[in-house]
Amino acid sequence: MGKSSVLSAVLLLCTVLMHTDAEQEYFTLSTNLTWEEARSHCQMCFSDLVTLTPFNIRNISQRISSAHWIGLRKYFNSTGNGTTGNGTTNSSVPWTQWADGAPLVFQNWYPGWPVFKSPLPKIECCSCSCTCPARVSPTSAPTRGYTESPDSNNTDASTTDAILRHGPSESPAGYRITDPTDATTPDAPDTTQSHWVSTPPTPIASTCERSPMLPPIVPEELQNYVEDSCVAMLSFGPWVERDCSDPLPFICYEDRFYGEVNVSGITATSASVAWQRGPDGISHYRLHVVGGNETWVQNLTELSRDLDRLTPGTGYSVEVFAVKCGRDLNPQTTIFYTTPEEVQDLNVVKVTERSVTLNWTEPEGQFDFFLVKSPSDDVEVTTEEAEVKNLMPGGCFTFSVLTGVQDRSRWSEASPIAACTKPEKVSDLKVSDNTNMSLVLSWTPPEGNFTGFQVVALSVNKTLLFNETRGRGETSAVVTGLPNGSEIRLFVTALGRDGLRGDTVSDVDFTAPGPISHLVVVTKDTSLNADWKPAEGGPLTFTTELLWEKTVVKTKDVVNETSVMFDTLNTTTEYTVVWLLLLETLLPKMSKWTPSPYTGAPPPNVTKATYLVEVRSGFWNESFQSETQKTTFTFDRLRSGTNYTCEVMTQAGDDKSPPVNLTEMTVADKVEIGLSMMCSSADSLQCENETKVMKEIHDYLESNLKEHIFWKFN
Ligand SMILES: *[C@@H]1O[C@H](CO)[C@@H](O)[C@H](O)[C@H]1NC(C)=O
Ligand SMILES: *[C@@H]1O[C@H](CO)[C@@H](O)[C@H](O)[C@H]1NC(C)=O
Ligand SMILES: *[C@@H]1O[C@H](CO)[C@@H](O)[C@H](O)[C@H]1NC(C)=O
Ligand SMILES: *[C@@H]1O[C@H](CO)[C@@H](O)[C@H](O)[C@H]1NC(C)=O
Ligand SMILES: *[C@@H]1O[C@H](CO)[C@@H](O)[C@H](O)[C@H]1NC(C)=O
Ligand SMILES: *[C@@H]1O[C@H](CO)[C@@H](O)[C@H](O)[C@H]1NC(C)=O
Ligand SMILES: *[C@@H]1O[C@H](CO)[C@@H](O)[C@H](O)[C@H]1NC(C)=O
Ligand SMILES: *[C@@H]1O[C@H](CO)[C@@H](O)[C@H](O)[C@H]1NC(C)=O
Ligand SMILES: *[C@@H]1O[C@H](CO)[C@@H](O)[C@H](O)[C@H]1NC(C)=O
Ligand SMILES: *[C@@H]1O[C@H](CO)[C@@H](O)[C@H](O)[C@H]1NC(C)=O
Ligand SMILES: *[C@@H]1O[C@H](CO)[C@@H](O)[C@H](O)[C@H]1NC(C)=O
Ligand SMILES: *[C@@H]1O[C@H](CO)[C@@H](O)[C@H](O)[C@H]1NC(C)=O
Repeated sequence: MGKSSVLSAVLLLCTVLMHTDAEQEYFTLSTNLTWEEARSHCQMCFSDLVTLTPFNIRNISQRISSAHWIGLRKYFNSTGNGTTGNGTTNSSVPWTQWADGAPLVFQNWYPGWPVFKSPLPKIECCSCSCTCPARVSPTSAPTRGYTESPDSNNTDASTTDAILRHGPSESPAGYRITDPTDATTPDAPDTTQSHWVSTPPTPIASTCERSPMLPPIVPEELQNYVEDSCVAMLSFGPWVERDCSDPLPFICYEDRFYGEVNVSGITATSASVAWQRGPDGISHYRLHVVGGNETWVQNLTELSRDLDRLTPGTGYSVEVFAVKCGRDLNPQTTIFYTTPEEVQDLNVVKVTERSVTLNWTEPEGQFDFFLVKSPSDDVEVTTEEAEVKNLMPGGCFTFSVLTGVQDRSRWSEASPIAACTKPEKVSDLKVSDNTNMSLVLSWTPPEGNFTGFQVVALSVNKTLLFNETRGRGETSAVVTGLPNGSEIRLFVTALGRDGLRGDTVSDVDFTAPGPISHLVVVTKDTSLNADWKPAEGGPLTFTTELLWEKTVVKTKDVVNETSVMFDTLNTTTEYTVVWLLLLETLLPKMSKWTPSPYTGAPPPNVTKATYLVEVRSGFWNESFQSETQKTTFTFDRLRSGTNYTCEVMTQAGDDKSPPVNLTEMTVADKVEIGLSMMCSSADSLQCENETKVMKEIHDYLESNLKEHIFWKFN
């Protein structure tokens, strides 16, 4: 689209010189034509013969090397009706306008031009009167009056006079001015000067004589006079009049043509282009379409064209040259892109908490880049993959991928794809409330969105212990069903949509050991012995503390044993035994743990103390039994005055503690019984010994009732 490339095809021109002055271009045509022919040619193939102005004359004159016709002549009426329009107006006054109708506001005559028709010497006066006073060459006055010299310092008035009057006499060819550059010696000013001043001026005097004179010779300067002259510019700039029928090269001008190409109906493979009509005389339009690696050239006479079989997403450059006389005018140009095709095979490749990576295959045809539109940022890439960042974690978004062309004028259809980001991981995972089979996990929910949480607990050997989900609003979970005294691996994962899971946060913690069981405490006067069964998986090493009224009285370490004994105690005092686990090594988070405190004198069971109570009377051969969980028990319906044996045993699981015994007599409900006896004895007076009999009866009762029941014998 360089402007100089426009001027390539030339018909009839040997050299084309172009100068752009404002909106005009100038063409120097070297074919020798008459002024009329030259003008016709200019009108046909350009605008007209050149109109010179102070602004263009310098450039134009520099480009010619001999006299050239320009668009000026003395009278435009002489050209008949072939002249353009206004050129024929006001035709009675010479030198009024240029060929294109422009007013003659600027002239650059060579000194002495234009030549005006000299009035004939007033010889009639002399011939008819006898004595007239001599007049000094009045003939040159009008000529001088119209001579405009562009450089008055170089033009001596007398020299000009000489040229006007005598030069022609030295120039039999009839061409009064020789263009200095036409001469073999290019030394123009000197040549001109010496050429024209070679003959010394001869003063002309008109004399008046008495005798009638011959008709005067027509002054020689009138040989320069051309009645209907046309104007040529000399190679060095000034103008002279010439006979219009002289063949000369000439200079045309043309108003630069500007037009626009409009493109419409652009699709991926087609478009319509339309351009503006050129000036008159256009033979056809040449359409150049260049795009991708292809070029189409077509000669057309219409003003539009549908283009098809274009490549999608390609930039096409359109140039339309209006062709006039085989010459390209200034082209009408435009550039357009066809619509690119949409991408294929769009996929989500990778998803993170805050980004989504997509990939796709590039479309058929051409493209310059891809645009990924997202709710956060729009991303432009030239590769087939793009990462969209700054998304909300756990959110679901729709992305669209478009194919674009460089000037962003055309976009492909959008290819949509939906994807969700991963939820972020939870933070601040904490474990609390450890028991022997459960603990409480709590956490802070992550930023962004999520649908819930998955809580998993594993044992050290990776057995699944707990696997549950919690809803969006929950931030804690009670993990249950855990084994006693174990290391537990805990995992919390935020859940997102589409099965997406955040990163898992884990912690390690421990359940408390289970309670000891089968606790049997045997108390004696001053000692206390406790036996137990260790909890499954629980520890065997404790520190035991003996408390009296909540203060520690004694401590004892138990290592790999299941019993402990405290001695040198006070009798009948209530003590509490506490098993403490010193667990720094096993359970770092639990320094102290009380599995089962034991309190009291009657041996209880820790979990649920059950006491077996029994009262017996051997005398009456009866016994009553019962179970209780209290530490007192009342038997009723016992016989009065009977000595009962009480026995209390603690039952723990299947085991029973050794019994604690107590013997007590019920209160006697006394009744007197009278005895009468008849005494007969072989020995006389034997019956009178009463004391002996009484003793025998007492001994008898004594041996039978003993202390089983209350009795008294008098
Ligand atoms: C035009 O005429 C001149 C002499 O007047 C001559 O030198 C020149 O070669 C001619 N040009 C052409 C193209 O005929
Ligand atoms: C053009 O007009 C001028 C002035 O009226 C006249 O002298 C001249 O003869 C005319 N030329 C022609 C060819 O008619
Ligand atoms: C121009 O001259 C031609 C004949 O030479 C004539 O037919 C035509 O009508 C003229 N046009 C005008 C506008 O005078
Ligand atoms: C003659 O001049 C008038 C006014 O300057 C203009 O409107 C008209 O178009 C001209 N005619 C031609 C044929 O140039
Ligand atoms: C003409 O010559 C005079 C004196 O030599 C000079 O001052 C003046 O500038 C000249 N004028 C031009 C137009 O060259
Ligand atoms: C134009 O380019 C395409 C690929 O870009 C290629 O297949 C084709 O052969 C090329 N055509 C020409 C004429 O170089
Ligand atoms: C178009 O016309 C020019 C002549 O103006 C000719 O040289 C060229 O071959 C033509 N091109 C086509 C494609 O017809
Ligand atoms: C997208 O990426 C995946 C994984 O990197 C790859 O297997 C697949 O071929 C890619 N698809 C396209 C269309 O490039
Ligand atoms: C979060 O996700 C839920 C559904 O899982 C949806 O109803 C809610 O609008 C989402 N919130 C935001 C902020 O996207
Ligand atoms: C794993 O540990 C659990 C309890 O901690 C236990 O019940 C299970 O038997 C163990 N499994 C193996 C294979 O050791
Ligand atoms: C937890 O349960 C879910 C189904 O409810 C299952 O998909 C997941 O694999 C389980 N987790 C483990 C660690 O077994
Ligand atoms: C306790 O017993 C276990 C095995 O039964 C043994 O490995 C450990 O060393 C013992 N601890 C002490 C302090 O004796």
